[in-house]
Amino acid sequence: MERKPIITIDGPAGAGKSTIGKLIAARFSFFYLDTGAIYRALAYKVENLNDEKSEETIIDISGRTVITVKNDNGMFRVSVDGNDVTEFIRSEKIGALASGISKIPAVRKNLLPVQQRIGSAGGVVAEGRDMGTVVFPDAEIKFYLDASLQERAKRRYKELLAKNEKISLKEITEDMIARDRQDIERETAPLTIPENAIVIDSTDKTIEEIVITMSNVIQHHNYTQITTKRD
Ligand code: DC
Repeated sequence: MERKPIITIDGPAGAGKSTIGKLIAARFSFFYLDTGAIYRALAYKVENLNDEKSEETIIDISGRTVITVKNDNGMFRVSVDGNDVTEFIRSEKIGALASGISKIPAVRKNLLPVQQRIGSAGGVVAEGRDMGTVVFPDAEIKFYLDASLQERAKRRYKELLAKNEKISLKEITEDMIARDRQDIERETAPLTIPENAIVIDSTDKTIEEIVITMSNVIQHHNYTQITTKRD
């Protein structure tokens, strides 16, 4: 059987990677892989440590924590050492801590095979900050999803309001600026547009428009492969 492609979606926080990634995965019956959730799951474990949260401890933990993921009825779920932590990792606090620990090169190194193992068989939509550059550099289809800071902050604000998190739009915007800077400026695997990636600005586009644009690219990719084979 022909191997299904790996599709990567990179981009900053709030660009719509999760929403779009899930829809694309469902549409093509691919596995949806949210790598931010893997960093968040580790951050959650670190946050709940009783002992000192030194860099050394975090690196040590990243090397011996078992992180597993699954798609359960269209819902992406992540477990740490066998405990499902999906419901606890979406706060701004955990997001900021995840961004902080993701700067540590040894942590990234330890989480690399975890992500690659999940995606290596193909048939996966992987979203994060370094999917098309480091984790799946040979991915068949690469997207980079972007949006203006104001729009991204507004989306995150709505999301957190719905969860009753008490945070202002101003605070979210400030968090986002800090997180963008941290993700873009870190030395190892910084957030950047992968070579050959198709860049989509989602600021003024509906979810449906973006899904259609991406689906066209994916369908065209398969078509090209088939015609190439026949030639
Ligand atoms: O996408 P997210 O907000 O759930 O990601 C949380 C943090 O995890 C993000 O600020 C940086 C880090 N991250 C990363 O460094 N590399 C990835 N592939 C995914 C997330």
